Amino acid sequence: MTKKLILDLDTGIDDALAIAYALGSPEAELVGVTAAYGNVLMEDSVRNSLAVLDILGADSVPVHPGLPHASTAEDFAVQEISTFIHGRNGLGEADIAPSTRSAAATDAVDLLIEASRQYGEELVYVPTGPLTNLAAALDQDPGLVERLDVVLMGGALSVSGNVNPWAEANISQDPDAADTVFRSGVSTTMIGLDVTLQTLLTYEHTRRWREPGTPAGTFLADMTDYYIRAYETTAPGLGGCGLHDPLAVGVAIDPSLVTAFPINLQVDLDGPTRGRTIGDVTRLNEPWKNSRVALAVDVERFLAEFMSRTISLVQGP
Ligand code: BDR
Ligand code: CA
Repeated sequence: MTKKLILDLDTGIDDALAIAYALGSPEAELVGVTAAYGNVLMEDSVRNSLAVLDILGADSVPVHPGLPHASTAEDFAVQEISTFIHGRNGLGEADIAPSTRSAAATDAVDLLIEASRQYGEELVYVPTGPLTNLAAALDQDPGLVERLDVVLMGGALSVSGNVNPWAEANISQDPDAADTVFRSGVSTTMIGLDVTLQTLLTYEHTRRWREPGTPAGTFLADMTDYYIRAYETTAPGLGGCGLHDPLAVGVAIDPSLVTAFPINLQVDLDGPTRGRTIGDVTRLNEPWKNSRVALAVDVERFLAEFMSRTISLVQGP
């Protein structure tokens, strides 16, 4: 069965790499990209996703605008640290031609609801930014809980956060939305920092994208070198950049890449731990767990899959 994927992205360098992973995967069809705010403004996420899809030869994949700010906020401003990590354009200052396409007329929430009705079990929804669009879709169509399979990048269960000791960036953008999602009962696999900080890309890898000399290969390499350089400052000693968002796509396509722990999750909403992903004590004794948290990953196999799939995309004619 070919999986149908919708990626909900705050595009962002690793979000762009998630697009590349999906497009390089013969077992999956990318039916749409939806836009979140986070690494960049929602409008810039649309712009970046369109441009990345175009340069990777997927100019028929539509991009749908999403909600521009958190469910509990009036607006959104990009944080300085996001600009430091992803560059002012969100794509590591790499040269990329702007798309001549526009955003799709259907918004992210309607697209998700329609696609889940159309594709049923074939659909996997992969949010790699805040969960604002998904929480809004669950609110608009409560039946979605029964139909949807979600593999998300966000959270941290067995390690510290990356925004503060408790919270990971995507969850901390909209903790209320994330809590709504986890408590709704929808099936979620959480690909958090527990595993994404184990899947590291280095300059050795990006060099291989440059070899064919294609615009797509040069773009991926320039963009990701910027990200690796940022990591040298924010996480010295790690030895590369975390492939957060591509790992979520990898697991959506092949769940055997990770070992996951069944749990009913919640997000702390009050006090200093706001944004922390943790077990919901009120559902501790429920036999059915609606979430799985990835706690181990086959690093070697994932990196090999990531490289072979992305290299196949940038080969050129
Ligand atoms: C997550 O935060 C964003 O900056 C990245 O794109 C990734 O989705 C990592 O915490
Ligand atoms: Ca992201």
